[in-house]
Amino acid sequence: MLLEFLQWLGATRLGIAVAEDWFPKVECVHVIALAAVVGTIFLVDTRLIGLTSTRLSFRNISSRLLPWTWAGFILAVITGFLLFSSNSVAYYENGAFRLKLVLMILAAVNMLYFELVTFRTVAAWDGAAKPPFAARFAGVLSVALWCGVIMTGRWIGFSL
Ligand code: HEM
Repeated sequence: MLLEFLQWLGATRLGIAVAEDWFPKVECVHVIALAAVVGTIFLVDTRLIGLTSTRLSFRNISSRLLPWTWAGFILAVITGFLLFSSNSVAYYENGAFRLKLVLMILAAVNMLYFELVTFRTVAAWDGAAKPPFAARFAGVLSVALWCGVIMTGRWIGFSL
């Protein structure tokens, strides 16, 4: 069932157009999108860890940067899907691609846990140069997971 869908996707006019013509252009936009996502997330995470911008409150930094993170993420998903459609069965079977998706899901779970649990006490540590352990741990884990997403994203092209 899934394999039939992937074969259909790769044979669509969209999949063929990306494979035969648009791939390098779409991948350029994908790289710009991921730079926006990971670049802004790292600035928020290093504030959470207490490494940078410690004279600014956490909410000040995150409220200014997270809209750019989400804009970049939406663009990364759209361009990522277009790239995926160009060789869908091969990407689906690719270990680096699968690991990349797992790492992105773990990064989303980490962000969700932070938003729903750790962030509830932010009023107590918003201006602190060194936030509590749970916040710093969320920052370190986020940096590690997104580095993994970039490395596996790059590795896809070497392992197809
Ligand atoms: C914000 C999330 C994402 C990040 C940080 C990311 C990161 C990357 C990186 C670093 C590359 C290698 C680019 C290069 O060196 O030219 C890449 C390629 C790729 N990404 Fe993503 N990506 C993200 C989201 C997605 C999504 C959601 C999909 C699929 C639905 C996807 C599918 C792909 C594909 C198919 C390639 C091309 C691999 C190739 O043949 O070279 N990406 N990504």
